[in-house]
Amino acid sequence: MSRFLRTSAWYLERLGLSIYRRQLVFYFRPPAAQAPAPTILPGAEIRFVRSEELEKLGYPGGWLSLPEARQWLERGDSDCLAVIRGGKIAAYMWAERKVARIDYLHLEVPLPAGHVYYSKVLVMPEHRKLGLARAMHQYLAHSEPHLAAHAACVTENLPMHRLFIGSGWQPSGRLDIYKLGPLKIYRVERAREGRRHRAFCSRPRSEDLFL
Ligand SMILES: CC(C)(COP(=O)(O)OP(=O)(O)OC[C@H]1O[C@@H](n2cnc3c(N)ncnc32)[C@H](O)[C@@H]1OP(=O)(O)O)[C@@H](O)C(=O)NCCC(=O)NCCS
Repeated sequence: MSRFLRTSAWYLERLGLSIYRRQLVFYFRPPAAQAPAPTILPGAEIRFVRSEELEKLGYPGGWLSLPEARQWLERGDSDCLAVIRGGKIAAYMWAERKVARIDYLHLEVPLPAGHVYYSKVLVMPEHRKLGLARAMHQYLAHSEPHLAAHAACVTENLPMHRLFIGSGWQPSGRLDIYKLGPLKIYRVERAREGRRHRAFCSRPRSEDLFL
């Protein structure tokens, strides 16, 4: 971005007119008959956690605060998968089952039946590069292979791209938001039947992203 644009953006932000473009790359894992169970580090446990366990397991915050994580679990439409090491949550991610809440792009998109959106992956810094993010995705592929799974990450998140590409996920599209204050325009790009489709809209629908 040029200096002029950066300065203009800064002034607009001060006026409450934040201006930016953000992009997510979407991945898709089609339903499959079966996937092998993950190998996890000795002494580590991988499982879904309940709302009342979060505090005892030292829920580390991050994408969602403790009250938000409790609220998400108690709402009953999302599950939190965690890797527990030494009695504490070392990594977690969410399986959103009714609505994909894509906070980064200010979006909530309903999910078709039989589809799941895996999101908010976080591995605590001291547990990174040990295969925990990969193990969580393998666990889900093993435990719910019948679901059509979606996930997304920013272009520059190399570990996540490596993880998806190396685990049989397929890139399924890109979604951009162009935001100027209260104005939001989305650009959806999908590859369907070998052809690229691009469209601008004020709010992407479920079928634009997931079908
Ligand atoms: C991204 C993140 C989840 C990866 O977790 P992790 O447990 O360290 O990842 P894994 O050990 O399972 O590694 C997955 C792949 O990424 C690679 N990788 C991990 N960290 C990397 C790094 N810093 N740079 C490049 N590649 C990296 C691994 O080598 C592996 O690929 P490979 O099997 O082809 O070798 C973790 O770094 C994190 O929590 N980051 C901050 C939050 C975030 O970005 N979340 C994702 C939001 S979509």
